[in-house]
Amino acid sequence: MEPMPFPRVIRTVGELQDESDHCRAQGLRVALVPTMGALHEGHLSLVREARARADVVWMSIFVNPTQFNDPNDFEAYPVNFDRDLALAGENGVDVVFAPGVEELYPQGAQTWVEVEGLSESLCGASRPGHFRGVTTVVSKLFLAARPHVAVFGAKDFQQLAVIRAMERDLGFGIEVVGAPTVREADGVAMSSRNVRLHPEARIQARGLVKALDAAERAVLGGELSRDRLISEVETILREMPLGETDYAELRDPISLALAPEFLSGPTLLALAVQFRRPEGGDEGLVRLIDNRLLDPTPTR
Ligand code: PAJ
Repeated sequence: MEPMPFPRVIRTVGELQDESDHCRAQGLRVALVPTMGALHEGHLSLVREARARADVVWMSIFVNPTQFNDPNDFEAYPVNFDRDLALAGENGVDVVFAPGVEELYPQGAQTWVEVEGLSESLCGASRPGHFRGVTTVVSKLFLAARPHVAVFGAKDFQQLAVIRAMERDLGFGIEVVGAPTVREADGVAMSSRNVRLHPEARIQARGLVKALDAAERAVLGGELSRDRLISEVETILREMPLGETDYAELRDPISLALAPEFLSGPTLLALAVQFRRPEGGDEGLVRLIDNRLLDPTPTR
C-alpha cells in the first residue's frame, strides 16, 4: 500500500491566507477543523464530517494558552505533533495549520473577542475567561483560514453555542457545523483529558454517561419535572467517589437559559465533574464534561 502523504504544514497566518485565496480562486470549498491536537477518534470524526462538506480539509493544531484558566492544566496538556500529523494525513487532512504562540498573539496583543451572556454560565462560571480565550482564538483562526465551513463537536455544547453566536454577531460568513459526540467502548465521551485520569477515576467516569442515559430513559418514560430529573442525575453522579460534581443542569439548547420547571421541548442536560486522584491533593485534577439533548416530544 502507498504510504499516506503527510499533510502540508503551514506555520504563518499570511501563508494560510494566501492558500485560502488560491483555493477560492479555483472555486474549491474549504473546511476548517480547529483542534488543540492530542487527536482521537472524536477529532477524526470531525474531519470526515468536514470532508463530506468541502473539497479541501484543513485542521488547526494549536494549544491555545488564553483559554486555560488553570496554568497547570495548560502545562499538562498532552502534545504529540508527529503522531497528530500522521493521523491527520491518514484521515485526509490536506493542510495542518500549526502556528507558534507569537504568530496568533503578537507581542503586545490586547484585543479580545467575547460573547457575553452565553459565556457566563456552566463551564464559563467555573472557568473564568475560558470562553473569551476560545472565541478570540477561533476568530483568529477564522480570519487566517477564511474557510467556507468550520466543524465543531457537540461534546463541547456550550463552546458550539458560543461560537455560533459569535459567527452570527460578527458575520464571518462561515457555516458552523456541529458533529455528534464520539464515545469510548464503555460510553465515556472521548477527550484528550481521559488519559490523565487515574485508572480508578477512569472506571468511575462511566457515571457521567450512566446519568445521561438514566435521564433520557426517564424523559422517554414521561418524566418532565426538572427537579426530579436533576435529583435522579445527581444520585448517579454521587456514586463516583473520586468525582465531584461541578454542575448538572437542564438548559435551553440555544439560549442556555435554565429550563422551565416542567420540560416542554428539547432540553440540554449538561454535566461537569472534577475527578481527583485516590491519594487526594490538588495534583492531577481532571475535569470532564458531557451532555445529552433530551426531547420530551420526539416525533414518531
Ligand atoms: P479540542 O478539545 O482539541 O477539540 C477540538 C474539537 O474536537 C472541538 O470542536 C471538540 O468539540 C471536538 N471534540 C472533542 N472531543 C470530541 C468527541 N468525543 N466527539 C466529537 N467531537 C469531539 O475544543 C477545542 O479543542 C478548542 O477549544 C478549540 C475550539 C480548538 C479552540 O482552541
